Formats: sequence, structure tokens, C-alpha cells
Amino acid sequence: MPLVLATPAQKTERDALTYPAWGPPLTPAGYAAREHRLRAHPWARAEMRTWLLCDEQGSVLSSCETFRTRSVLRAGDGTLTDGDSFAIASVFTEERLRGRGHATRMMDLLLPELQRAPDAHAALLFSDVGPQLYRRSGYRELSAWNWVLSPQPGEPGEHVDRLLGETDLDTALSRACPPERPFFLWPTAAQADWHLERERIYAEQLGRPRPEACGATVGPSTALWAMVKTGALVLLWLDARTAQDAEALLGAARRVAHRAGLSHVEVWEEPDTAPLLASIPGAVREPRDGSLPMLQPLRPGLLLSESLPIPRVLWV
Ligand SMILES: CC(C)(COP(=O)(O)OP(=O)(O)OC[C@H]1O[C@@H](n2cnc3c(N)ncnc32)[C@H](O)[C@@H]1OP(=O)(O)O)[C@@H](O)C(=O)NCCC(=O)NCCS
Repeated sequence: MPLVLATPAQKTERDALTYPAWGPPLTPAGYAAREHRLRAHPWARAEMRTWLLCDEQGSVLSSCETFRTRSVLRAGDGTLTDGDSFAIASVFTEERLRGRGHATRMMDLLLPELQRAPDAHAALLFSDVGPQLYRRSGYRELSAWNWVLSPQPGEPGEHVDRLLGETDLDTALSRACPPERPFFLWPTAAQADWHLERERIYAEQLGRPRPEACGATVGPSTALWAMVKTGALVLLWLDARTAQDAEALLGAARRVAHRAGLSHVEVWEEPDTAPLLASIPGAVREPRDGSLPMLQPLRPGLLLSESLPIPRVLWV
């Protein structure tokens, strides 16, 4: 059973089949338009591939997408070397074909394909079906907790230095210090903008106002966020150097969420931000529902620590 890359026509055919899994509350036509538009986004055009597991007759048994994402190795002397990691998304088997090992087979065949990249580092996915399925193919899960904050009335720009707009992504990400870890995943501005493209689509299709900013800075600290389909504001990136900065940045997010009529602000816990988030009055910690990060190395000797930070901006 070969694993092949989908043609544009095959991608559109898969959109019609995956609608029940990922389409609502968009209409089928709206979902097809979203998929088409997301594939046309510069980040997806450059980094995304759609894979099909086919039988001998060429019928599709299972499908998924991969997005190449930047990752970095830090040598003992501090030297940083860029490489490629791959985030896997949209693993899908039609209902009538489920339970026959097709998704597992596809994941197994995908691994050597990803390892062909000369500087391949790691494969990453975000499971919505628990860890078991992907453990079979060698992936291991990290812990996944969210912090939830209520929207708050007020002037969004108060108590921060600046609110950020969608042309500020590059500057915002370049303010961050790479973590002092032997391996980490490091997003690009184009990758962050892909999340804003999703926000633009939801605003248009669901008739919602767009949040008036996509991030904020205070002192050396930076946050980026986006509205998601469920009507929450999610922090894509939180580089807070102190508890006070975290509170100021999340305060701006809460006020932006309030102005846009969003239900809540959601922050993915990372090892470095956990103690800062814990000190914010009213922030509630809860186990993440879905989007369980799972990883495996694509090269020998790469150790994936359980405390690897996985910011929400890496989600696909
Ligand atoms: C998840 C999915 C891709 C599995 O495809 P498949 O070809 O049936 O997968 P396999 O036959 O290799 O493995 C099936 C296993 O997945 C498990 N699984 C499927 N859906 C699950 C769910 N919602 N929660 C937990 N486990 C699930 C099955 O229980 C089965 O386990 P078992 O073999 O121990 O009984 C398929 O059910 C699907 O397309 N679901 C809808 C889209 C989706 O949720 N994709 C996953 C996104 S992370």
C-alpha cells in the first residue's frame, strides 16, 4: 500500500469527506472555501503537504497533512543549528474504512518520508483521540494543561506598552530569546499569520467582529493571540519575563476578548509560564480537552524532553 502526495483535485475530494469531522459550524461550502484558502496561505503553500494512503487500485484509505516547521539544536558550546520538524494534522479515515489499521499504517509509512529531509529533527502532532493510536507508531505525549481567564471590560491598551497588529508578527517573534534547551521548536511569522488567516475566515464566515489586536508588548515581554472557531481568544505565544508582565499581557488579551464578545481567554501551559500563570488572580487551570502534543525524534540521538515547550502557535 503506497503513501503518495495528493493532487489538488484529491485534496478537494478529501475536504468533502472530512467536513463532518472538522467543518461545523461552517457550512460544507464554507468549510471547502476555508480549506482552499488555508492551503493558499503563504505558509501552507511553502510548507504543507497532503498525504494519501492508497490501496493497490489507487483508492484512498486514509489521509493526513504535514507542515514543515523550524526547529533548533543547541550544541554544548551554545551554537544553534536550524533544522526541520514536521507537524502532522488532519489524520482521517472514512467511517466505513475505520478500525482496519489504515491510519496506523499511514503514520508508520510517513515516518521514513519525513526522515528523508537532510536536517530532520522531530515529528509532532496534536491528538484529539487520546494517546493510544499514535503511541503505536512511536509518538509519546507531553502533559497538556490550559489556563482559562474570563474576558474583562476596559481599554485594551491600558497597562501594556503597545497593542500589536498583524504586520507586527516578525518584530514580535524576534523579541523572544531562544530557550536554553538542547532542542526546541521555533515558529516563524508566516506560521503565526496562518492562525490569523483562520481568524479572518471565521470572522467573515461566522459574522463575528475580529479582535482589535493580535498581541501586546510590555517591557521585554510579548504575547500573540488569535480568535478561534469556538469563539475563544487563544494565546498563540506568551513570552513573559515576570509574573507582572504576564498579568499585564493577559489583561490586554482579556479586554480585547471582551470587546470582541468572545467567551474566554485560553492559554496553553508551558513549563516556563506555568508559575507565572498560577499567580494571575482568577486564572483557572484545567486539563486540555484534545490537542494533546505528541512527538518522536526523526534522527538518532535526539532526546525529546518532557518539559519541551509547545506553544499554541505550533498547533496545526
Ligand atoms: C482516528 C482515525 C483517524 C483512526 O483511523 P483508523 O484507520 O480507524 O485507525 P486504525 O485502524 O489504525 O486505529 C484505530 C484505533 O483508533 C482508535 N480511535 C479512533 N477514534 C478514536 C477516538 N475518538 N478516541 C480514542 N480512540 C480512537 C480506535 O479505537 C482504534 O483502536 P483499537 O484498534 O485499539 O480498537 C479515524 O477514526 C478518524 O478519521 N476519525 C475522525 C477524525 C479524527 O478524529 N482524526 C484524528 C485527529 S487527531
